Amino acid sequence: MGTAMSPTKVLVLNGPNLGRLGRRQPEIYGHATHADLAEHVVGTGTGLGLEVEVRQTDSEGEMIGWLHEAADQNIPVVLNPAAWTHYSIAVADAVAQVNFVVEVHISNVHSREGFRRHSVISPYVTGVIAGLGFGGYDLALTHVAASVEVPEAR
Ligand code: DQA
Repeated sequence: MGTAMSPTKVLVLNGPNLGRLGRRQPEIYGHATHADLAEHVVGTGTGLGLEVEVRQTDSEGEMIGWLHEAADQNIPVVLNPAAWTHYSIAVADAVAQVNFVVEVHISNVHSREGFRRHSVISPYVTGVIAGLGFGGYDLALTHVAASVEVPEAR
């Protein structure tokens, strides 16, 4: 997926209400903002030789468009589908078209309300990380970096 000249591009896509990080239920999601998350994740990516672009939307259609972009350009995705995780077949159908997706949840969805335990997205992803805060994104990117082809190493 990458070349010696250009680092592998990765899209980190965050769904609804994640733009409210820092103000939204800080006892669950912490005090850091989405801008803090983006800065953190881009830094992690740089350290791994990845070119990370972080996007957030509250619009399902916009998210689906980004997933189509990832599918068409074969870009690996780290996805926090937020509430869409639990009910959006449209987002799930878009995820199913993408070659490499790691699903990330900041909170431990298995220790919360029952409806958060089920993901309609998970059947179509490579792996799932939940409950490790922003560190989950770091682990997802580490996995992407370890999984993508590195042509210059051949
Ligand atoms: C979340 C968990 C979801 O249940 C919730 O709807 C979110 C965020 C998380 O990152 O922990 O918005 O995906």
